[in-house]
Amino acid sequence: MKLNFALILSIIVAVGLVALVFTVFQSSNEKDSLINELEARTEQIAKDFYSNGLNFIETNSAERVTHFTDSICRQYNLLGIAIHYNNDSVVVSNPSIRPYLNNSSDYISRSINADTTVGDFFKINGKQIYQFIKPVNKSDISSSVIIFYTDAQYIKNMISSIWMRNFVRWFIQALVVSFVIIIIIRWGIFNPINKIVNWVKAARSGNLEQLKGKPPPRFLAPLHKEIVNITKAMHEAKAVAEEEARLRSQAESIWTPERLKIEMENILENKKMVVVSNREPYMHIHSGKDIKCIMPASGMITAMEPVLKACGGLWIASGTGDADKEVSDKNDKLKVPPEEPTYTLRRVWLTKEEEDHYYYGFSNEGLWPLCHIAHTRPTFRKDDWDYYKKVNTDFAKAVIEETVDDEEPFVLIQDYHFALLPALIKQEKPGAKVALFWHIPWPNPESFGICPWQRDILTGMLGADLIGFHTQYHCNHFLETVNNSLESRVLWENFSVNKGGHTTLVKPFPISIAFTLKDYDNSENKKDPSLLLSHYNISSEYIGIGVDRIDYTKGIIEKFLAIERFLEKNPFYQGKFTFVQIGAPSRTLIKTYSDMVSAVEKEAERINWKFKSKNWKPILLLKHHHSHEEIAPYYASADLCMVTSLHDGMNLVAKEFVAARTQSDGVLILSRFAGASQEMQGAIIVNPYDIEKTADAIRTALEMPLEEQQFRMKQMRQSIVGNNIYFWAAKLLRTMAAIH
Ligand code: G6P
Repeated sequence: MKLNFALILSIIVAVGLVALVFTVFQSSNEKDSLINELEARTEQIAKDFYSNGLNFIETNSAERVTHFTDSICRQYNLLGIAIHYNNDSVVVSNPSIRPYLNNSSDYISRSINADTTVGDFFKINGKQIYQFIKPVNKSDISSSVIIFYTDAQYIKNMISSIWMRNFVRWFIQALVVSFVIIIIIRWGIFNPINKIVNWVKAARSGNLEQLKGKPPPRFLAPLHKEIVNITKAMHEAKAVAEEEARLRSQAESIWTPERLKIEMENILENKKMVVVSNREPYMHIHSGKDIKCIMPASGMITAMEPVLKACGGLWIASGTGDADKEVSDKNDKLKVPPEEPTYTLRRVWLTKEEEDHYYYGFSNEGLWPLCHIAHTRPTFRKDDWDYYKKVNTDFAKAVIEETVDDEEPFVLIQDYHFALLPALIKQEKPGAKVALFWHIPWPNPESFGICPWQRDILTGMLGADLIGFHTQYHCNHFLETVNNSLESRVLWENFSVNKGGHTTLVKPFPISIAFTLKDYDNSENKKDPSLLLSHYNISSEYIGIGVDRIDYTKGIIEKFLAIERFLEKNPFYQGKFTFVQIGAPSRTLIKTYSDMVSAVEKEAERINWKFKSKNWKPILLLKHHHSHEEIAPYYASADLCMVTSLHDGMNLVAKEFVAARTQSDGVLILSRFAGASQEMQGAIIVNPYDIEKTADAIRTALEMPLEEQQFRMKQMRQSIVGNNIYFWAAKLLRTMAAIH
């Protein structure tokens, strides 16, 4: 308001000054020209009078002269004419001008003396009069003058009217200009300023949505763009700073291999730690004349290997590689990892029958489908069960052998292959601390109840001091199963079972991957996605990735159907989206598995045939074993990852994908039936049986704004870094150590 007023006032003053100067000029010019005109006219009248009327004056009586001059006055619109012979003899055309003579006396003598005409103005009774005095140069009437009086008041009137006119003009101008200025200030200055102020406020509070709301007027667009860019930069910088701060404050609590090593040394106090699993972490196989060492595709190994690598110890597993024997020593041992050995692998050799019945038979045709609700019927054969018992006994012997000089070793048994092992070890070595971690789901008691040897299995498991599952849900199912089928006491208040005087704690330990702050920003695996596909003559704008063992529990067919439906519903993406499915063949001696491999191949082929074009196909099925190093660039470069398990204990592929996203972009589509869905809150959670919705999830993922992707991804990355495998191991060991 103040600004308005000051601006208007100064404009009025400025316009006023201009008008004043202009009026002064105009009026003075006008006045000069009117005066000149009056003088010239009066002079001309005087001239005419002198040439025609002078003789008349000389020759006629005063009365007649008066008449004559009076008629001249009327003719020329003069106020009067006075003939001044001397001070005592003056003839006037009319008496009303006689008083004027007083104002003329000085000029009369000046005119006579200088013998020249004199013109001047005087004022009488508020009236402006012009007098023109001309001497008469004739011998008989010398020293006489004739005075012509003219009304000059009109000059003043005209000048006044010029002032008046200009004042009115100034006033109207000032009014119009002020009005226009108010409009300009309001719409042209204040409104944009208010807009800018609002943008700056939004920028300060980081409100990008508000900034992007309404398109700015064209002339403010560059400024608006800059403010949006600054806000984005501030937003990102703030997010990075917050994340850094959070990570810094977490850093001390984040578990690292070094920290786990120290913790384990403190817990073990020189006691031995032995890990037992069926699958070995390193498998030696012949490759032509060479021997190749590979790490098998197994979530259990992805999780456990970093723990052993960090802390050392002994890992007992079946030696299943065709070159395993050649590289093991006489005690069936070797130091691993091959490139930097830190722990010992002891291989247990299985006969063909043992492998057929214990591994393929009871473990993978019996327990695996029993625990996974994926609609594949478990098969229970007496022979398989007998071999299962035998192999468990053999592994128990191996553990006892390896811990002969240690009464209280820590034994960490992995998975469903060794349900009987805890009790077998405890029988021989009651002082051992035994934990069994079940990497797969535990079904409801009714489902588990179909197993003819469920009581033996539960009794074997309850030999452990601690049984771990990924989720509380699986713990509850296990406790209910025990409650329904065994004579024991289930203590729900601390989730434990007491059977025959021995207590087993049953707790959730959501397993994880080796992801520390050091890996957080490591972006060396990021590759140009087009390079990954060009090797296969495919060019595609968007890439999806899936990494699974080819297993009926993984929902690979359902995933392909969802991709097919997505392309049908969104033809725009045909030619633009390729899904890379890395599928490691697994357990192929079992018919359901080899059938699964064919079904997956056929389905990929069918869908590719339906949509493919010259340089593009929707599904790239890479059906062979891939190392972690080979998979990493796909994880890092894909736009989305799909995990569509029909039932899964945890699924570490989901976590590995998230860990690989150093830019915090990309989207995880995750089955609600995988244990990981309880932790990965930033994923798009799907029911893989619902093909329609899973297809829609692919589109949502591909079209998700970057900020939302980053928001979700950061959340998941922080969750994994805080709950990495070192944390998992420390928690498990601490819990074991606390059991007396
Ligand atoms: C699952 C099991 C692991 C197993 C892996 C691979 O993740 O929990 O124990 O190692 O599958 O299966 P495989 O039969 O090849 O070892």
